[in-house]
Parts: sequence; structure tokens; C-alpha cells
Amino acid sequence: YVIGIDLGTSAVKALLVTKTGEVVAQASEDCALSQPRPGYSEQNPDDWVAGTLAAIKGLLQSSGVNVQDIEGLSYSGQMHGLVLLDQNNRPLRPAILWNDTRTTPQTKEIIAKMGDQFIEITKNRPLEGFTLPKILWVKENEPDIFEQAKTFVLPKDYVRYQMTGQLNMELSDAAGTVLLDVEKKSWSQEICTTFDLPMSLCPPLVEATTMVGTITPEFARASGLDEATKVFGGGADNACGAIGAGIVRSDQAMCSIGTSGVILSYEPTATSAYHGQLHVFNHAVSNAFYSMGVTLAAGYSLSWLKKTFGPDESFNDFVGSASNSTIGARGLMFTPYIVGERTPYADAKIRGSFIGVDSNQNRADFVRAVLEGIIFSFKDILAIYETNGKNFKELISIGGGAKSELWLQIQADVFNKPVVRLASEQGPGLGAAMIAAVGLGWFADFEACADQFITRQKVYQPITQNVEKYQRLYEVYHQIYGQTKDLTQ
Ligand code: XUL
Repeated sequence: YVIGIDLGTSAVKALLVTKTGEVVAQASEDCALSQPRPGYSEQNPDDWVAGTLAAIKGLLQSSGVNVQDIEGLSYSGQMHGLVLLDQNNRPLRPAILWNDTRTTPQTKEIIAKMGDQFIEITKNRPLEGFTLPKILWVKENEPDIFEQAKTFVLPKDYVRYQMTGQLNMELSDAAGTVLLDVEKKSWSQEICTTFDLPMSLCPPLVEATTMVGTITPEFARASGLDEATKVFGGGADNACGAIGAGIVRSDQAMCSIGTSGVILSYEPTATSAYHGQLHVFNHAVSNAFYSMGVTLAAGYSLSWLKKTFGPDESFNDFVGSASNSTIGARGLMFTPYIVGERTPYADAKIRGSFIGVDSNQNRADFVRAVLEGIIFSFKDILAIYETNGKNFKELISIGGGAKSELWLQIQADVFNKPVVRLASEQGPGLGAAMIAAVGLGWFADFEACADQFITRQKVYQPITQNVEKYQRLYEVYHQIYGQTKDLTQ
């Protein structure tokens, strides 16, 4: 067996997976989130370790397996969170998370000082969520704490350190710090010098499938794991989500709907072609990369609508009610910018709209308009790919978008591409287990592992007459941002 640990923002999930990719047990433990001020989002790094310990204990108890049969484990981690450590590797303050937005002044400072050179090195624009702006924020606002900092790591790297005693940062996650030269796979001296950060702050780098160590006697005693279990680097949650969906070869892409939504594509090179319009990070697949665009409120737009207008209904019934409406929601259109938007606009201030409200419409039309608006926002991301000559043959749909037949067909029709649903979709946790499986040498590479672990269930084909209708509607949708961005109350 291998264990895949998915350290998310709201919970830690652990999966126990067999050599043939069957998930035989799972356990999960919630993680507390602290929002001490508007825009702040923090967690206590030791809560992640406690959560991971509880999830592993739960997993071992429910499965009843012989722990000596668990050969390896690895991680998927929420990205970008800053864990600053002192000389004894103790956290100096709570971790500042990916969804913390206090760092707008620091992102502006980075652009002012480095401009396009920053994108050349890191392949990304400096956004509030990324780690470097958070380091600069602590340096400027909490100089006493910064002075004591010996190094920094990311969330899953801290958990791995507590489980093995080995302190490293894994490469696919390191890319999300925007302190990394993504092509050279090494820390950027230029960025450190520009922002007066000692290079010694940056920890040693390891690859996703590097065996970093085994379980410490203390963690083995507390969890019940065997000390001989091999621990591998792991990956950023988006890299692991991609591996878990089989995005391990050129020309493959996925559409994932969680709280936020992602269109992600495998990239064979560290391309600068997107000029920071899409994120480009190192993949957990060695020497590969991935690009992605993010819709900030994808599933979140739908859960907001449900909380507001259908709190007592089941999610399935609520989403299913959209089938009482028709394509185009009888004239109603929605833009999902309810918490701002990342791709393509990188605009934290824009807000959503319902356009074309008519006295003939009912609630089903509003549900349908939200389902369609989220997919139109993904089409904006696909348009960036298409401008750059990338026309995907198909998209693998995962997360909330893969749970409804109606929504899967909307994806196929709006994208005008086949959309694939997988048989048993386990998200980033499965990607983490696959990293351990490849690290152990069970498979020659991720392609061989994906062929064994991942099965397609159904392909949704675009229906020509729907495609034509959606093309006309998308032309209207695409104008709404420009027409509403300056309208504020
Ligand atoms: C990616 C990002 C999120 C986090 C969520 O850039 O900010 O997807 O990785 O954990």
C-alpha cells in the first residue's frame, strides 16, 4: 500500500491505496482557519501536523491493515502558504495562507522593481496569494520576527519535516513561492538580491518523487505508522490534482471545479508565451511544467446562490433544477466575479452581474445562469490558450463540475470539445499516492502509473445546435467585464 495525504485549507485527507490504484480506506480531519482581520487568512502549522496525525490514525484504524505493508507515503499541499521558521525550525508566527490578500502593496513593489524580468524568471505575475509578497510583508511589518527567521517552508513541507526530521522544499510547490527560477529549478539569486533577502532563507530543494527519509520514532509511536515507511517529497495541490486526473502527458488538460475553478494544462517546457496571463509552475512530473488559469468563485458562486436561495435543498436537487430552464437561461446571464477575478483580468475589485433579468424568469433560470456563467469564465481561460495556438482535443472534468450530467453537457457545449468524466475520482490525494507509487519504483513513470490507476467513465460530446447557441451567448458574456468594471456603488 501507499498513503496519499492531501493537506487542504479546510481539512487534511488521507487515502490508503493499493498497488493497482484501488482506494481501500480514507479518513479526514478538519483544520481551523483564522481570519483575524478582513483579508487576513492564517493557520497554525502545528494544527496541520495534529490534523495529519489524526487522519493517519483514523485511516489505520478503519482499514485494519498491517502497517508493515504500507511501503510509502507522500503529500499534496495547499500552495503558497508562508511558514517562517527560527533557528530551531519552530514556526515564528501563524502561517499566512494562499487566500490571504493583505499583500497588494508588496505585489506593486515587485512589479515596480523588476517588471517583465520577474515574469521571465518565475513565469508568473506577482499576485497577492503567492509567497514572496508575504515574506516582504513580514519583513516590512514585523521586522522583529523577520530578523529571527532562519528559513521558510510551505505547508506540506512543514508537515513532512515533523514526520521525518528532514527539512526541504519540494519543487512544484517551490515554484509557487515566485522566488524560484522555474526553468533552472533553482532559487533566484536576482530576486533575493533585489529584495534584500538572504539566500540562506531558501531551503534545499527536492523533487516530488525524491525519498526524503522515513518516519521518526516519535511520529511512528504517535501515529502507529511503521518507522521504515518511505516518505517522498510530494507536490503542490494543483500538480497533484493534475496527476490524479491523469494530466501527465503533452496536450492533456483538465477543468476542475472546487471553491475556485481551474483550467490546467500539461506543458513540456517552462514557457513564457502566456506573459503572466496564466500561471506556469513546475509539475510534480519530473522536468515537466503546467500552466493554469483560475476562476476565483467557481463552485463558490453556486454555493453562494444555494445558501441565499435554496438553503434547505440538497445540492443535487438545487443543481438539477436548472434542467427546468433552457440554454441561455431564458435571457439571463451571470458573471461569477463575486470575490473579484484572477484569470483573465487579475482584478480584485470587479464584482459579478446578472444581466437581462426578465419578469418571465424563475429560480431555475438563475441556477442555470450561474452554471453557465461559471463555464463561460472558463471559456475566457481557454481563449488565452487558443490565442497561443493550444487547442485541446478534450478536457478531463473533475470536482463539482463532474458530479452533474447537466453541467458536464454544458461544459462540452460551451467549450465545443469532448469532456471526460473519470470512473473514481479522488483528486489531489490520489496524485499524492501516485507520487509515492512512482517514488517506490512500482511504476517506471507517471504515465505507466496513470494507465493503471485512472479509468475514464464517460465522454460528453458537444451537440452542434447547442454549441452554436452558446457561441452567440459567449460573445455577449465576454463584453460584460469591460462594460461593468467601472460601475461601482
Ligand atoms: C493556486 C492557489 C490555490 C491553492 C489552494 O495558485 O492559490 O489553488 O493551491 O490550495
